[in-house]
Amino acid sequence: MSAFPTPYVSPMLRPLAVVLALLAAVACGEPSQLQTVAGGEMLTVENGAVASTNLWSSRAGAEVLLEGGNAVDAAIAVGFALAVTNPTAGNIGGGGFMVVRTPDGETTTFDFREKAPLASHPEMFYDEDGEFSRDIRHRSHISVGVPGTVAGFELAHQRLGQADWARLVEPSIGLARDGIELTPDLAGSIANAVGRMQERGYEASVQAFSRDGVPYEAGELWQQPDLAMTLERIRDEGRDGFYRGETADLLVAEMERGGGIITHEDLEIYEAVERAPIEGTFLGYDVISMGPPSSGGTAIVQMLNILEGFDLPAIGHNSPEYVHHVAEAMRFAFRDRAAHLADMDFSDVPLERLTSKEYADELRAQIDPDMAGESSVADVELAMESAETTHYSVVDADGMAVSVTYTLEGGYGSHITVPGAGFLLNNEMGDFNAGPGITDETGLIGTEPNLARPEQRMLSSMSPTILARDGELVAVIGTPGGRTIINTVLQLALNRMAFQMEPMEMLSAGRFHHQWLPDRITVEEAIATPELMSRLEEMGHTVEPRTRQGAAHSIVIDMETGERIGIPDPRITDGTAVGY
Ligand code: DON
Repeated sequence: MSAFPTPYVSPMLRPLAVVLALLAAVACGEPSQLQTVAGGEMLTVENGAVASTNLWSSRAGAEVLLEGGNAVDAAIAVGFALAVTNPTAGNIGGGGFMVVRTPDGETTTFDFREKAPLASHPEMFYDEDGEFSRDIRHRSHISVGVPGTVAGFELAHQRLGQADWARLVEPSIGLARDGIELTPDLAGSIANAVGRMQERGYEASVQAFSRDGVPYEAGELWQQPDLAMTLERIRDEGRDGFYRGETADLLVAEMERGGGIITHEDLEIYEAVERAPIEGTFLGYDVISMGPPSSGGTAIVQMLNILEGFDLPAIGHNSPEYVHHVAEAMRFAFRDRAAHLADMDFSDVPLERLTSKEYADELRAQIDPDMAGESSVADVELAMESAETTHYSVVDADGMAVSVTYTLEGGYGSHITVPGAGFLLNNEMGDFNAGPGITDETGLIGTEPNLARPEQRMLSSMSPTILARDGELVAVIGTPGGRTIINTVLQLALNRMAFQMEPMEMLSAGRFHHQWLPDRITVEEAIATPELMSRLEEMGHTVEPRTRQGAAHSIVIDMETGERIGIPDPRITDGTAVGY
């Protein structure tokens, strides 16, 4: 059943990556109690574990756990470390979501999604001729939402943290000030981004990410002194070190220089929010995920409710019939997402109905077991999908679980680095709809709920999720991938809950995606066999192979031993799990 037996991306290089990860761990003085594995391997430990997209960040979190910090503390340390070491998505200039389950089964979430600045309005992405401009919405200073990450981490720390705040920021300061030795993947990613930064004339970004315009090579030391100073202010002053004072002055100055609209007032009034999670059930499991302004949890619970009524093991994992039934559930969930989902502080969302078993019964009855359904063009907005966000999972020795997905939206966000402050700004405003009533042949439409308005949060697909059963933690899951996030998390959950897959198989099994419109199923190449694709076409589906879907750094609990199994997604070479 496994589509991605170890390893997936670079079979020749993976053993080298493991060795390099271990050598780096030793070179960095990793406490000997910590165990480390790279992408394609599984970490099995008794106490605490972190799985993230790189070694530096997983280690920063695991060290906090080892010192007695809890999973929320560790998640904050990981998040700050990623802001230094994973510039595609790790951030202090972006936003995201944290889902928490305490050892006694209490659940909560922290929403630190970016907000629209006060000067926002539904037609803000139009050019001087009154035409909608993709570049303004997604590639300009206007595309920057008011960042949420620092406020979110501070709120989570105040509510549930127990370690000293400064201790949690400190590792990131060291990584920025002393520098990191670039891995081949990271060096390549940064070199590409520097090209785009040069094209767009973002000089501060070129300086921060290259040596005077010359890209760094793998193995070179990359230091970020301005970012280190910003992180020091955050260490010393908490959120005020970001939303006020020097950092805020530098950010607002860059907005004024580049034609952006974020003001001091926008920064002052930004608040992260603690919200109830979306909770559902599936064959005796509890599913705890993110509610609006994410669409993820709602859609996942809706799809699980539909699929609970089918005998999935009898249908057969990743068989044509399985892909068909699951894709039909995806079609319904993404239709309803387009119609209803948005920031609930601004729009009514019929959450109770969308996540109810009764509504799922109605939808399931509409699925023809042999024939694809139809997606008719209605109000939906098909934005460009970028592929850069990051997810990480943490479980501590007491069983507290934290699932975090956060992002700059596109890889490297807006590509705009705040001069003197050293951090990248998001381009999350691109997750708002284009404009009222805008329709064109690509499917752009401006549905009402997700239009840009002052202080509204733009709709997200990020779906950090936790699974439990009979009061016990089962798994911490999530992934990047734009709209595919929702469907990757769905399939991870099904792999575990419907098929009882072992942890590595749960992660490596091939994935597919349908999002209502465009009306097609994309299937990971590793499972896109001619037989599968032609049978789906016979059923009336349009199918397309795709490269990897997601980077789902997860932790699964061994229900017999209680051990924490950390699994960096085998699709990602630099992914790393660390624990003890
Ligand atoms: O919030 C969202 O849904 C998007 N801004 C996330 C973008 C993303 O996942 C790109 N990723 N891989």
